[in-house]
Amino acid sequence: MTLAVPVLLDAENATSDVRHSASAAGGRLTQERRSASGRVCVIGAGPCGLTTVKNLLAAGIDDIVCYEEGPAIGGNWVYEDEPGRSSVYHATHLISSKRLSEFEDFPMPADYPDFPSHRQVRGYFESYARHFNLSPWIALDSRVARATRLPDGKWSVEVDGPDGRRVEAFDYLIICSGHHRDPLIPDYPGTFTGRVLHSHDYKRPEPFKNQRVLVVGGGNSACDIAVDVARGAASSCISLRHGCYILPKLMFGRPTDIMYARLRQYWPFLRDPIARLVVRLAVGPWNKYGLSEPAGSPLTMHPTLNSAILAALRDGSVLARPGIARFDGNLVRFSDGSTEAFDTIVWATGYRFSYPFLDETVLGAGFAQSPPLYLTMMHREISSLFFIGLFQPIGCIWRLADHQARIAALQINGNLHRPADIGARIAKETSSRARRYGTAPRHLIEVDYHDFRRELLRELGPYAA
Ligand SMILES: Cc1cc2nc3c(=O)[nH]c(=O)nc-3n(C[C@H](O)[C@H](O)[C@H](O)COP(=O)(O)OP(=O)(O)OC[C@H]3O[C@@H](n4cnc5c(N)ncnc54)[C@H](O)[C@@H]3O)c2cc1C
Ligand SMILES: NC(=O)c1ccc[n+]([C@@H]2O[C@H](COP(=O)([O-])OP(=O)(O)OC[C@H]3O[C@@H](n4cnc5c(N)ncnc54)[C@H](OP(=O)(O)O)[C@@H]3O)[C@@H](O)[C@H]2O)c1
Repeated sequence: MTLAVPVLLDAENATSDVRHSASAAGGRLTQERRSASGRVCVIGAGPCGLTTVKNLLAAGIDDIVCYEEGPAIGGNWVYEDEPGRSSVYHATHLISSKRLSEFEDFPMPADYPDFPSHRQVRGYFESYARHFNLSPWIALDSRVARATRLPDGKWSVEVDGPDGRRVEAFDYLIICSGHHRDPLIPDYPGTFTGRVLHSHDYKRPEPFKNQRVLVVGGGNSACDIAVDVARGAASSCISLRHGCYILPKLMFGRPTDIMYARLRQYWPFLRDPIARLVVRLAVGPWNKYGLSEPAGSPLTMHPTLNSAILAALRDGSVLARPGIARFDGNLVRFSDGSTEAFDTIVWATGYRFSYPFLDETVLGAGFAQSPPLYLTMMHREISSLFFIGLFQPIGCIWRLADHQARIAALQINGNLHRPADIGARIAKETSSRARRYGTAPRHLIEVDYHDFRRELLRELGPYAA
């Protein structure tokens, strides 16, 4: 017996409830045409997979299987103590505020704080799945090993599940497998003989007690981890290869993303000088933190939001170091010529996006350098393939993924059509991103929450309401 059979039987039983609850919560179903649209495979039941299943159901598409390789829904927000499986670390709290992170049709509980903990976030996704009755469509412990496009345009999907490997056929493939799971570890000259790990495998500070720890990177992982280990470590240093904007989570008593939303009320040419001024007033001179002056505007980089590291750099519990030049045993030589001994290096150097279950003929060479996707979701040639959540916002991913998923669902049920000039749109999107954020790998898929939301709503047209 295959797992797909019970999944689909459950789905049939649950369809009317889902339609009712989705309709009641979203109020968006009634005007839409329902159609027999074909069979849809969703890969991953993290926040983006969940909202995708919700939107498919809301669009009247219920021939869906969402495969999740883990034992639970929630993706990165299912904390696991064991390294290996992708999850947040124990101390994680949201950096985006509750108000700008919650799904627009499903608010977070009123008693949640501004920046909920990972436990609360996981609980929120579980309630979301319950509210929209998504579980019947999700097959847990089921890893998609391969997805192959057949000559007739259908997808053959090989799945490793509790009953072994099976192969299923689908008309559409929606990829929600996340892009914070394949660690990027840089290569520097020399050899470091101490312990080395990537932030992907960092869970708690206890194993670093009394150690000299160097955390590399200036992103949110690096800052969180440097502060976290500092509590018990002999020393906690953070190495940044250039100046970057580290902002407090609150500005004038309000979450920084909410203040950023207010800044958007100003003319575009005023936003940058105002942002620079506000950051200067809130943070002060960077050299007081031991950091270099950032080049460029705070609006052209993925934000690092961490009040604790700013305090820790000022009280000395975390020490700033420049970029790494080379290793020699347990010594690290920095770019300013200084050397220092460390027991552990934590590479908080980000992630690559990779799709090991897809072959290169689908993605095309160079996909990882510049994914040719319209609205970061629509493949240039293959209309039956969608990526949901493949972007890194100044802001939160989930709400935008909800809109992307709605576009995909409405294309699948025939209410929306792919633009005819998709190649030209991809080129425009890629060049406008490069103009704002540059071409460094870290900003390959960067979007501004507000601009991107507007673009997605424009694509939704009459279905945006
Ligand atoms: C420490 C940390 C803190 C973060 N904080 C924030 C934040 O404050 N705000 C924010 O917006 N984002 C944050 N993020 C980013 C985070 O990745 C997203 O919030 C969110 O989890 C992305 O959702 P997703 O569904 O795209 O991916 P994921 O959450 O990664 O879920 C993907 C799912 O797909 C499954 N999967 C993958 N491959 C397969 C396969 N082959 N077969 C079957 N299943 C598969 C995985 O098991 C996983 O459950 C943070 C990330 C980290 C690491
Ligand atoms: N608390 C939270 O909510 C939280 C916590 C962690 C992560 N996140 C989110 O998760 C995502 C991933 O964050 P992340 O911090 O893991 O990755 P990231 O945002 O990609 O940051 C990676 C950092 O590593 C640096 N780096 C990359 N290659 C390097 C190299 N060769 N040498 C030295 N430094 C190098 C980058 O600097 P350059 O700019 O020089 O490339 C950057 O500072 C982000 O969306 C982030 O917002 C959120």
